[in-house]
Amino acid sequence: MNLRSSVILVTAILIAAATGIVVVAQDHTHEKSASSTQAQNNIPSSSVTAGFTSQTLFQPPAERNMPDDEFGKTIKHGQEIFENTKNIAPQYVGNASNLRCSSCHLDAGRLANSAPLWAAYVSYPSYRSKNKHVNTYAERLQGCFKYSMNGKAPPLGDPVLVALESYSYWLASGAPIDPKIPGRGYPPVSHPLAGDYRRGQQVYEQHCALCHGADGAGQTDARNQANFPALWGAKSFNWGAGMSSIKNAAGFIKANMPLGLGGSLSDQEAWDVATFMDSHERPQDPRFNGSIAQTRAQHHDSADELYGVVVNGHLLGQGIVAAKPDSGGEKQ
Ligand code: HEC
Ligand code: HEC
Repeated sequence: MNLRSSVILVTAILIAAATGIVVVAQDHTHEKSASSTQAQNNIPSSSVTAGFTSQTLFQPPAERNMPDDEFGKTIKHGQEIFENTKNIAPQYVGNASNLRCSSCHLDAGRLANSAPLWAAYVSYPSYRSKNKHVNTYAERLQGCFKYSMNGKAPPLGDPVLVALESYSYWLASGAPIDPKIPGRGYPPVSHPLAGDYRRGQQVYEQHCALCHGADGAGQTDARNQANFPALWGAKSFNWGAGMSSIKNAAGFIKANMPLGLGGSLSDQEAWDVATFMDSHERPQDPRFNGSIAQTRAQHHDSADELYGVVVNGHLLGQGIVAAKPDSGGEKQ
């Protein structure tokens, strides 16, 4: 477990303890395989692999085995960008964003069922319906900067992309080239009932607001160490991000949230709280063409997306800009 993950987890446990919530420590170790971690810490496999059995899952190499040469430096740099995105690559992250890549790809992109980088790396080039062409891995990385980080895509060949690509390649050492590799993405979640805002609000207040804030804006400490990322509003991912689809959000939440308690919500609760989260305003989709209805028709035409839908009397998709940007003037 690196220092930053430890600080976040310990802070989370302290907050939870203070308010009587039980958090099972999730060991985000980079040094050991899941099975030896389990044996030493006596924790069930579910907490190592985000609620799913670890038996058939690929294990990326331990951090201590990073090559000790020039290539190793670039791999390490990629890991640092992934965990400390805003400080190392600020030019590509939205001004107000308080997210980092590992906000949604937990344990520095290692954790199965949290869209791990090793599974992503072996899955490209691939056709994506989102942009209707075959995407290289580098282009896929660009997408998460533009939408999830509400920032700008680094140009192809940029050292930031080269480092992230090197880190992903190294994590995938020994993995088969297989887009169906177990542990990829976020596992699908069923929903016997349609998502419900009110039920989702109750789940949110009970299980999420403690860390992510009643207003969804998260919390960042002065040294930017303990970072609870924003789930909606100006500091969060924008309307073009994968997480603004209820389906993706429910999958991530069911497997990984509350932090350290992945798998504890029912499928329906995960779907409802994802519906609640995605019923709030967030930064505009960068593909916005001047009309919410047309932007919905072109990019959000799905029952799982609330862009362009009226919720509680508010037409979603109007976008939101930070009142006081953290640095510089943010423009949409
Ligand atoms: C707000 C959450 C969020 C943040 C922050 C985020 N991502 Fe993602 N990322 C996603 C979602 C959602 C997907 C789609 C997962 C799926 O399709 O199952 C995804 C997919 C990916 C994939 C492809 C995964 C696959 O298996 O095809 C890569 C690579 C990736 N992200 C890299 C990054 C990088 C690099 C950063 C930081 C610059 C980042 N992400 C930040 C949510 C996020
Ligand atoms: C104990 C604190 C804690 C609780 C409780 C918690 N989270 Fe999180 N959550 C985090 C942290 C910390 C991260 C980012 C992980 C990282 O940076 O390593 C995160 C990340 C996320 C993300 C991806 C990043 C983003 O900003 O979009 C979503 C979505 C999310 N949580 C939703 C939820 C939901 C829904 C609940 C309630 C069911 C919940 N969380 C409960 C601490 C918590």
